[in-house]
Amino acid sequence: MFEFFKEKKLNYAGIRSFLDEDEFELYGLLKDELSKRKIASDARNKSRDDKNRSKNKSSNEGIRLALFYPGSEYDVANPIMILNSLIDFKKKNQVIMTYVDLKDMYHFIPANIKICVTNVNPKIRNRHNYKYTKFKIENTLIEIKYYHEDAFEFIRRIRVKKREKFDIYFERAFNVIRATEDDEFPKNVFETTSDLIFSDEPLTHEKEYEKQGFERISLSKNISRLGLYEDFSVYSKKRD
Ligand SMILES: C[S@@+](CC[C@H](N)C(=O)[O-])C[C@H]1O[C@@H](n2cnc3c(N)ncnc32)[C@H](O)[C@@H]1O
Repeated sequence: MFEFFKEKKLNYAGIRSFLDEDEFELYGLLKDELSKRKIASDARNKSRDDKNRSKNKSSNEGIRLALFYPGSEYDVANPIMILNSLIDFKKKNQVIMTYVDLKDMYHFIPANIKICVTNVNPKIRNRHNYKYTKFKIENTLIEIKYYHEDAFEFIRRIRVKKREKFDIYFERAFNVIRATEDDEFPKNVFETTSDLIFSDEPLTHEKEYEKQGFERISLSKNISRLGLYEDFSVYSKKRD
């Protein structure tokens, strides 16, 4: 059969191979908890900005989602599991994942995607100032833009130029770096993030985020064990 027609699905065994111990199950619990609380972006977007869209919208139509991942290295499994807790891959969603890392490790990304998702063959392409690859999970198109640069400079530039907003901020094993290097970072993040923040540690300057309308969601103890520091945290922007 042509590659094009083969089903592109999550390869659970492959994803597990990248995660620590029971993290795969914990991501499952996160999905349950977020959907119970209607935190999933699917639900959020529908109630928020689809008022002007056609009422005859097909049930298969998805959403457009932008995720920012500073200090990403070449991690594919974790952001996929975050997305899995928010959206239904069967729908025609379009997800843009912006990776930023000081190290140029983008060449590992296609191989990791192939381990996490079946029947894909992603290739890295050069763009003006980033590397680019894309792949599908079921009907969802996922694009990765990999910027080989300082994440603090990057997010400052994005905020100043007001060109782009991310729906989701995700970080993993980045807290120490973030906390020591840049006091402006929280301001830059909350001005460029419109919906959800996921971090494997509570954010430094948590109060600042709260002032800007992000509230920390209380998660069950088990879910907090996700990530390297056993204090996984999710912040959600309050809705009007
Ligand atoms: C501990 S690794 C975590 C990698 C990935 N998040 C994961 O969980 O597998 C931290 C990453 O942050 C990157 N890093 C450190 N300082 C950075 C900076 N100022 N801007 C962007 N990336 C940075 C490092 O190059 C490294 O890849």
